[in-house]
Amino acid sequence: MSKAILLASPHMGGEEIKFVNEAFETNWIAPLGKNVDEFEKDIKKYLNIKGAVALSSGTAAIHLGLIALGVKENDIVFCSDMTFSASANPIIYQKAIPVFIDSDYETWNMSPIALRKAFEDAKKNKRMPKCVIVVDLYGQSANYNAIRAICDEYNTPILEDAAEALGATYNGKHCGTFGDIAILSFNGNKIITTSGGGMLLTNDVEVEKEMRFLSTQAREPELHYEHKKLGFNYRLSNISAGIGRGQMLVLEERVKRKREIYNIYKQQLAELPLSMMPEAENCFSTFWLSCLLINKESNVCYLDILNALKLENIESRPIWKPMHMQPFFSSYEYFSHGDSSVCEDIFARGLCLPSDTKMRDDDVYRICEIIKKVFKGKE
Ligand SMILES: Cc1ncc(COP(=O)(O)O)c(C=O)c1O
Repeated sequence: MSKAILLASPHMGGEEIKFVNEAFETNWIAPLGKNVDEFEKDIKKYLNIKGAVALSSGTAAIHLGLIALGVKENDIVFCSDMTFSASANPIIYQKAIPVFIDSDYETWNMSPIALRKAFEDAKKNKRMPKCVIVVDLYGQSANYNAIRAICDEYNTPILEDAAEALGATYNGKHCGTFGDIAILSFNGNKIITTSGGGMLLTNDVEVEKEMRFLSTQAREPELHYEHKKLGFNYRLSNISAGIGRGQMLVLEERVKRKREIYNIYKQQLAELPLSMMPEAENCFSTFWLSCLLINKESNVCYLDILNALKLENIESRPIWKPMHMQPFFSSYEYFSHGDSSVCEDIFARGLCLPSDTKMRDDDVYRICEIIKKVFKGKE
């Protein structure tokens, strides 16, 4: 069996271990220390943002982000429908109520048309949302010109879930800077990783201070343990942050490689009845995952490709199953872009292809050949 090719796996640059060793040598084996401070500074500088709080996961960052925006029991929160469940789970942690919003074909992200429908309905029923969680899926920004305009009209803040989009830009500005609060993930499959970790981002330094406080058990500045608020143990370890500092040194290289991989797929698969996830107007996508969409009239379905790749020890994955189709979330409201659901359609016809930056060009060419063979076999 040939060596496994993965969807996206950790890719160390080499310097990470130096920062990790530094933590050992100085005995800062704790959820605080120089690596945590410096990693936050690196991210702030890269994104040109004022506030960053390093946390144990992206999910923790979304949870604190909802708290920062005042989301409480029975509040409504609008949320992108096509995403990983971690975008929506913290809404439930807060005992709030999610309402899912469809995507559009241009970005695969939140549809401004569906969002407007949801706001109009909310206004009619006097059930306005407390905030809107907008996801930047697969390394591509959502359409913030349109989404921000609608949210401003209804005076509703945005929590930007940029877990998958570090390195991407929209109108030349980095993903992670469009929300009133934004979050990143450094999970093992992300463009850079800390093994597990996340970051809460904001330009409001008071919010930054408060979230750092809540993430470290909300300990009041007393000699004894004094608590006036509900705290969380959500801070990032100084060891993990060391990995993050090393990874920041190779982030641009990783973005470049992800885009090269996407471009090989796009060029090699151009003759087949499929399209690649588009790079939308004003967007510079990282193509964290390269995804394809099979034409409606084709006999090939995504499982044919997935299974053919699997036989060669190559991992691919269906598109993230929309939240409104998930058994856990299916009872919540959902607003579609048009008469039918765009997310359902992309889920039915799409596939995430191997996008591991450790792949060589000939690995990607080999994957393309396997895909071509699947189509040929079904002609
Ligand atoms: C869109 C999205 N949001 C949130 C998360 C949660 O991040 P984490 O795994 O760091 O908790 C992930 C990935 O895992 C994600 O893909």
